[in-house]
Amino acid sequence: MPYRHGAPNSVRDGMETRNWFRSQITDMLLGEHRLALKSEAFELSPHFEGIDNLGLYLHVPFCRQICPYCPYNKELFSVALAERYTEAVLKEIDRYSAMVGSLPVTTFYIGGGTPTTMLHTGLPRILESVYRRFNMQCGIHLESHPNDLSPENLSTIVALGVEHLSIGIEALQDHHLRILCRPYTADEAQAVIARAVGKGFECVNVDLIFALPDQTHEELESSGHALIELGVDQIAAYPLFNFPYTQWPQLARQNHYRSYGLLQKRRMLQVLEQVFYAADYTRTSVWAFTKTGSPKYCSVTVPLYLGLGASAGSYLRDIFYLNTFNTEAYIQALADGRMPIALSLELSERMQMAGWLYWHIYETRFSKDDFERRFQLRLDAVYGRYLRLLSFLGLLTEGEDEVALTDAGAYWLHTVQDLFSIDYISKLWGTSRQAPWPAEVRL
Ligand SMILES: C[S@@+](CC[C@H](N)C(=O)[O-])C[C@H]1O[C@@H](n2cnc3c(N)ncnc32)[C@H](O)[C@@H]1O
Ligand code: SF4
Repeated sequence: MPYRHGAPNSVRDGMETRNWFRSQITDMLLGEHRLALKSEAFELSPHFEGIDNLGLYLHVPFCRQICPYCPYNKELFSVALAERYTEAVLKEIDRYSAMVGSLPVTTFYIGGGTPTTMLHTGLPRILESVYRRFNMQCGIHLESHPNDLSPENLSTIVALGVEHLSIGIEALQDHHLRILCRPYTADEAQAVIARAVGKGFECVNVDLIFALPDQTHEELESSGHALIELGVDQIAAYPLFNFPYTQWPQLARQNHYRSYGLLQKRRMLQVLEQVFYAADYTRTSVWAFTKTGSPKYCSVTVPLYLGLGASAGSYLRDIFYLNTFNTEAYIQALADGRMPIALSLELSERMQMAGWLYWHIYETRFSKDDFERRFQLRLDAVYGRYLRLLSFLGLLTEGEDEVALTDAGAYWLHTVQDLFSIDYISKLWGTSRQAPWPAEVRL
C-alpha cells in the first residue's frame, strides 16, 4: 500500500493503539507507563564498582554523504573537524582511565556514522590511546562503508587490529542502490566484498536492507546466494525502518514508494532464512545469519558497556547515560574539562531485569542460570508466566536451562521490540539532535 498524504484517522488510530500497547507492556514489565531521561548531574565513579568486565563503544559521527533513511547521529566529514574530534575523544579516554582502572575490556566496537572516514585522520591515535589506557582483552569490531575499502585501506584496517569487519552493502541490485542513494554499483559492491573476504578477517559481516520499494523475493534470493558464494561469514538483514525524523517519509510520499505490512516482511525474511539455512548458516540474532564455525559479528556481546564519542550511550548496571549528540558541544565540553554527558536514567532492579531480557531476546537464545547469576533470582520466578505463554504460542522453546526463540518468535518478538526501539530512538535521538543539552526526554 503506498504512503498516503496527511494523517487519516486510521493512521492516527493506529498510532494511538501502538502507544497504548507500548505503555501497557512498559507498565507490565517495569511498573511505569513512561520512562524519562534527565539532565541531572551524578557522580560517575561509584557506578564502576562491582563490575567485572566491560564492553567499549566508540562513535564516529562522520560520513562522506548523508543517506535519506539513516537515523544515526552523523554529519559530513571534514579533516579539520575530525582532528578536533580526535583531541576530544583522547580527553574523554583520559577522564575514564582512572575509573575503569584494570577492568578487563572484553569487546570493542567502533560504529557510526562511518568509522572508516577517520582511518587516516585520528583513528590510529585514538586506538593507540585506548589500548594503552584500558585493559583491552579483545580485537576490534569495525563498521565500514564500501567506498572506503580500497586495497590499501583494507591493509590499514588489518594493521590497526581489526578482526571483525562489517560492510554496509545494503543491496545488490543497482536500482535499489539508486533508491537508497548509495554511491556505488552492485558490481563494485561485490568486488569490495571479495577483497575484504580475501583479507583473512575472523569475520566479515555484510549489512543488507530488505523490504525496499518494489523488491521481489527473487531479488532477495539472488542477493543471498551471491553473498554465500562470495564467502561472507555473516549477513545482517534488516527491514527498512522508517524513522520519522529522517528524509525517508517525505521521499517515500513523493515517489509513492510502497510500504510493507508485518506479514509481508516476515515472508521476505523467510526467503532469506531458507537461502541461508540451506547453505549451513544459523540464526545468531534476530536479523543475523552466521556461517557455521565462524565467530559472530555483534555490537553487544557483554551486557555492560562504556561509550566514547558524541551520542555514545553507556550502560553501567544501575544507570544508562548518553553523551551530547552535538559534535561541537561534545568537543567544547571536554575542552572545558567537563564530561560530555547530556542525559541519564537510573535503573531500578526491575528495569535492569527487563533490559537483560531485552538484549538476550535479541540474541535469540539465553541461559536461565545466567539470569540467576546476575540477579540472584530465578528467571521462572520473575518471568515464568510470560515464558509459558510465549512457549504455548510457539514463539519459544524452553529446555532445562536454555530458552530459545523459534523463527516465528525471533520475528514477532523483535517486532514488539521495534515498537519500543523505533519510538524510543525517534524521541531520544530526534530530541538530542535538535538540542545539545535537553533538560529531559520523556520516552
Ligand atoms: C552505521 S551504518 C553502516 C556503515 C556505513 N555508515 C554505511 O552506511 O555503509 C549501519 C547500518 O544500519 C543499517 N541501517 C541504517 N538505516 C537503516 C534503516 N532506516 N533501516 C534499516 N537499516 C538501516 C544499514 O544496514 C547500515 O549498514
Ligand atoms: S547509512 Fe551509513 S553512510 Fe549513510 S548516513 Fe547513515 S551512517 Fe552515514
